[in-house]
Amino acid sequence: MPTTLEVKTARLVTALPGPNAKRILEQDAKFMSPSYTRDYPLVAKRGHGAIVEDVDGNAFLDFAAGIAVCSTGHCHPKVVSAIQKQAAELIHMSGTDFYYESMPQLAERLGRTMPGAEAKKVFFTNSGTEAIEGAIKLARYATRRDKMIAFYGCFHGRSMGALSLTASKSTQRKGFGALLSGIEHIPYPYAYRCAHGHTAETCGAEILEHLEGQIFKRLFDPEDVAGIIIEPIQGEGGYVPAPKFFLQELQRICRQHGIMFIVDEVQSGMGRTGKWWASEHSGIEPDILCSAKGIASGMPLGAIIARESVMRWKPGAHGTTFGGNPVCLAAALATMDLIEGEYKENAHRMGDYLFGRLADWTKNFKIVGDVRGRGLMIGIEIVRDQRTKEKAADLRNLIVELAFHKGLLVLGAGENTIRLSPPLLIDQEQADFAARTLEDCFREAGKKI
Ligand SMILES: Cc1ncc(COP(=O)(O)O)c(C=O)c1O
Repeated sequence: MPTTLEVKTARLVTALPGPNAKRILEQDAKFMSPSYTRDYPLVAKRGHGAIVEDVDGNAFLDFAAGIAVCSTGHCHPKVVSAIQKQAAELIHMSGTDFYYESMPQLAERLGRTMPGAEAKKVFFTNSGTEAIEGAIKLARYATRRDKMIAFYGCFHGRSMGALSLTASKSTQRKGFGALLSGIEHIPYPYAYRCAHGHTAETCGAEILEHLEGQIFKRLFDPEDVAGIIIEPIQGEGGYVPAPKFFLQELQRICRQHGIMFIVDEVQSGMGRTGKWWASEHSGIEPDILCSAKGIASGMPLGAIIARESVMRWKPGAHGTTFGGNPVCLAAALATMDLIEGEYKENAHRMGDYLFGRLADWTKNFKIVGDVRGRGLMIGIEIVRDQRTKEKAADLRNLIVELAFHKGLLVLGAGENTIRLSPPLLIDQEQADFAARTLEDCFREAGKKI
């Protein structure tokens, strides 16, 4: 039997879940918070590249990458070695109180990737949520205003500030009472479901009119607005890209009123779309950019990257004990080398290949309503009827589960979309396996209509 290191796609050796997995699932049900949302019973043991092996020796092709985190694959030898070397030298120091070289080193490299000629400054966090939380504070601090605008369908995290921006699923807010005040949500330009029948290039003009004509006139004077925050490709909302003109217009509106243009690239960044940031595809230059997930290949790290003239808060205004921990930074530096050297280009190439492979899906499968995204950030929207676009959440869930039983790990996004967010190193054989497996799942799920 090949070892996990030799498996290229999937190798299933037990029924799922296997006996070891079942034992762990029972323990988990006893001891773990019931708030986690597991779609299927994968109990992971080890990973290598795009392959994850479970506790019973089953190998899966991973097109979820720990929610778009393992950008360089599982346990890339260069990332592992950087972590090991750093762990043997210095594990923790706290960048809030002391200095270490990797902080400015990584900050300089990240700053250079962010669009815009102005120099950048960076604050490191432990997660995406914390990056967003810090961005809210930074926008308020820099403008001395307190209102914010976000979008329906967006996900920015679950701490009380970030959750106040999040408008993804009401379960994420239910039971938690009042959140931050002064936040208004407006529709996201969702071309497939555009209320005004626009295309993927033109959807959203009415939303901008609503912002300027209604929100700014009736609710918030723009001079009270600290920031507008947007995911250039909505992640949890269903892998929905915003049109280029929309992002550019949003930036124009922000500049006109001195509002911070904040871009959440926690999921869409770090090479996933074939460029460092999805923002680059639209030629926008945000004031504040939030990153996390793929930044350190699975080590907990986030970053707020901002124009130098924006990140001018005084010592003590913001800090963290763990954020920017030396081991995470070492992993991030190795991750950047790999993404820059090879994987950003591979994400572009394999994204093009997959989109070519998926181009006929809406013709070939009645339950596939839309295929969209960029690079290796691909959303497949599942519908009951292509004409009415009725959302088929049950079929989407079935497909995700069927794929697991065929050795392919994928996750849902939004109410009825399947997201493909593999490690950026996948090759053609793996892309083909994923596409073939999903096609089998569509055929099986299609019979349930
Ligand atoms: C766009 C976006 N922002 C913020 C977050 C929150 O990040 P974290 O889960 O690391 O706190 C997520 C997580 O899914 C995300 O997709």
